[in-house]
Amino acid sequence: MASLKLENLAKTYGDVAVVHDINCSIGDGEFIVIVGPSGCGKSTLLRMIAGLESVSSGRIHIDGRDATDIPAAERGIAMVFQSYALYPHMTVRDNMSFALRNLKHGPSEITARVEAAARLLQLETLLDRMPSHLSGGQRQRVAIGRAIVREPKIFLFDEPLSNLDAELRVQMRRELGRLHRRLGSTMVYVTHDQVEAMTLADKIILLDKGGIAQFGTPLEIYNQPCNLFAAGFMGSPKINLVQAEVKSVGEPGLVIASALGPSFALPRQRLGDAPPPRMLTLGLRPECLRLEPREGDVTIKLKAGAVELLGDSSCIYGALANGAEFVLKLQGQIKVADGADLLAHASISDILLFDPQGRLISSTH
Ligand SMILES: Nc1ncnc2c1ncn2[C@@H]1O[C@H](COP(=O)(O)OP(=O)(O)OP(=O)(O)O)[C@@H](O)[C@H]1O
Ligand SMILES: [Mg+2]
Repeated sequence: MASLKLENLAKTYGDVAVVHDINCSIGDGEFIVIVGPSGCGKSTLLRMIAGLESVSSGRIHIDGRDATDIPAAERGIAMVFQSYALYPHMTVRDNMSFALRNLKHGPSEITARVEAAARLLQLETLLDRMPSHLSGGQRQRVAIGRAIVREPKIFLFDEPLSNLDAELRVQMRRELGRLHRRLGSTMVYVTHDQVEAMTLADKIILLDKGGIAQFGTPLEIYNQPCNLFAAGFMGSPKINLVQAEVKSVGEPGLVIASALGPSFALPRQRLGDAPPPRMLTLGLRPECLRLEPREGDVTIKLKAGAVELLGDSSCIYGALANGAEFVLKLQGQIKVADGADLLAHASISDILLFDPQGRLISSTH
């Protein structure tokens, strides 16, 4: 087990900085998830931590010790890849013991470690099989087992579940959560999958174009996204973002005009001590909207378009008066005719506010 500290870490290819200004401290035993759009530098960052990629500038500290120039094999880190990278001509047992044999561990030690990992991952009956005779989920478990037997201080995972079908992903996600609780090891996990990020992470590193957009707990990022990028990245369907104008400031607060519908008043204290900007962006998550009004709600007028009935919930893709798309996610099975006029409602306290530079000025929680 180990802590990990990244200090001004950067990676440049030619004159392109694909990773830059990475500063963060990861505590011993924490499960950290790195998320961000394709190409934002997630794998590059992970590979630098592993020592598989050189660092252009900055430092990596493992357990308080500068590991930036330590070779990969000596960092006490094990990495699990999306492609599993199993040796096809070796049995499961040999795949799992290969690294230990290279490190010159004794045979009894190797057997003990492989069997303990196989028990943990329910691979005991598969130890003599070849990888080609395993299912995708079993191969992934072997790849994880290969990492476990090395007893690393830190586990790194690069999209380990992305080749699995939806059901197996859910099952493996829960197994990984359990594994983390059992081993208590520090884990850094890259994924595209928001549900994996929300459910597995103690903390999420949200990357945007090679830099950290936000580093926080899953609920911090969901409830208090620091900018429009973070707000748009987390949540499905995506948050509705609507431009708004501050018409006047006084009693009963700030009068806000927007394409949502009639003007409404926002309490002055939602902006803190900052002078009110002339323009704001309002953020309304689809799941915070309702068809039934409550006292003090903001009313949103929209024309319904496509409806997705998901069984437990329904997504209505509508349009505001200015034609902008506006999405509602409602509990239950709600059937609405294409083109119907709808009134939706939101609590004022559920509306996120962003300044003209896209930074959060007022969160919902
Ligand atoms: N060897 C290389 N030379 C030049 N550019 C590279 C090299 N490796 C990666 N890149 C670039 O660095 C950026 C980050 O790549 P990286 O693989 O880290 O992204 P990622 O976030 O893991 O993406 P994905 O989600 O698609 O896996 C990309 O724009 C990529 O094209
Ligand atoms: Mg990647």
